[in-house]
Amino acid sequence: MNPVATETPLPPEPLCASDDIAERGRAFVWDVLEYGRPARAFVLRFDGALRGYLNRCVHVPTEMDWQEGEFLDMDKRWILCSIHGAAYEPEDGRCVGGPCGRGRLTPVRVAEEAGQVYWYPSRDIRPVPFDEAPVPDRPLTGS
Ligand code: FES
Repeated sequence: MNPVATETPLPPEPLCASDDIAERGRAFVWDVLEYGRPARAFVLRFDGALRGYLNRCVHVPTEMDWQEGEFLDMDKRWILCSIHGAAYEPEDGRCVGGPCGRGRLTPVRVAEEAGQVYWYPSRDIRPVPFDEAPVPDRPLTGS
């Protein structure tokens, strides 16, 4: 018998209230560790469903939002990178235009239950340990 290494799935991590993420509105952005290195992720609502990705453009590995949590273009149709204008399909993160080629955003599994939004850590994308978490400096909503 060839044993297959199994990994105990990490429990989902609460993010925010479902009502905090409006249809095609501002995304919720949070800190994660990807392969142990700091990164950011975001979740937005598109056609009623939550979509989560790492906040990292395929063209150049940099954050994409115009302002904190603002990822969509003016027509609220595409995720648009603020640096050189790469456009991504919100439903699957696929590049649909601009310098991202055949790339795709890195998905982060998200879900909501009983009015609460969660994300699911993976082998590669983990929560920031509590004692390493930066002090929040930006509110979730409001202007
Ligand atoms: S860094 Fe995103 S399009 Fe160039």
